[in-house]
Amino acid sequence: MTKKIIIDTDPGVDDALAIMLAFNSPELNVIGLTTVFGNVAVERSTANALILSEFASYPVPVYQGQGTPMQRDTPNYPDFVHGADGFGNIDWPASDKQAESQNAVDFIIQQVRANPGQISLVALGPLTNLGKALEQAPDIAGLVEEVVIMGGAVHTSGNVSPVAEANIIGDPHAADKVMTARWPLVMVGLDVTSQVLLSKEHTAAIAEANPRQGELLYRACDFYIDYYRDELGIPGCMVHDPSTIAYLIDSSLFEILSGPIRVATDGLAMGQTIFAPAGRRYPYPGWENKPNQQVCFKVDKQRVLDLLIDRLSHPPSLD
Ligand code: BDR
Ligand code: CA
Repeated sequence: MTKKIIIDTDPGVDDALAIMLAFNSPELNVIGLTTVFGNVAVERSTANALILSEFASYPVPVYQGQGTPMQRDTPNYPDFVHGADGFGNIDWPASDKQAESQNAVDFIIQQVRANPGQISLVALGPLTNLGKALEQAPDIAGLVEEVVIMGGAVHTSGNVSPVAEANIIGDPHAADKVMTARWPLVMVGLDVTSQVLLSKEHTAAIAEANPRQGELLYRACDFYIDYYRDELGIPGCMVHDPSTIAYLIDSSLFEILSGPIRVATDGLAMGQTIFAPAGRRYPYPGWENKPNQQVCFKVDKQRVLDLLIDRLSHPPSLD
């Protein structure tokens, strides 16, 4: 059965890869893109989501969401990773389409209530929209099909501090709210996303096989892959956001641990995701009476890479 998904996103180069992967996957029906600050300001992430929406073979509306975190100051935008435009400084022409007038948080609440047990929420940026939606409508926790988030790190290091991953530190208060809500949540974090690397040879092959979508992806990834080479000395970009979509398409690509997750909201450890294995009792408080969530901790990296390249190379027909 096709899954109805809402993608909450801050495009973002790897967001673009993830969104095109979702568009090209018959298992998924993207009913909307909701935007948030993160890799760029929210106005820019909305403009980029509108550009991306034109690459779907069916209409995908875009809803603008939150421009600032729930409590902390807005972090600096990482233009050295995603470019000032979020697409690797490629100067891609703006879309003629407009965002919907409804706010992203209201759209999420309305859709989850109208389709009980049917909507999967996929979060590819800071968790502010989801945190606000829970704050305004706690009942949605019992109504979603599942929540799949790219964010966090359990057994591996962070990518913006020794312990924090970028999306989680972007709004740690929202992240703690989202992780501890009583809804079925899957965390697709750096433990798995940092294992899968997409190279320039891969993006060139995608662009050759599928020029309509591949040109934007190839040009955006050029800058992003250079960042990974120069900063980390590795020959490709990490497949962060697309891994959430891979999970939705085929969860057997991942191995899962179960247990409560908390997020440190201040101090040196701000943005750290702290996982407690299910059933383990500790003399120090914080994890008791919190729901068990699912954490991806191992990945079949070759199969994820093959899935990504195959789907991005073979878009559905536009007829
Ligand atoms: C996450 O942060 C952003 O830079 C990427 O788009 C991804 O969602 C990786 O830490
Ligand atoms: Ca992202």
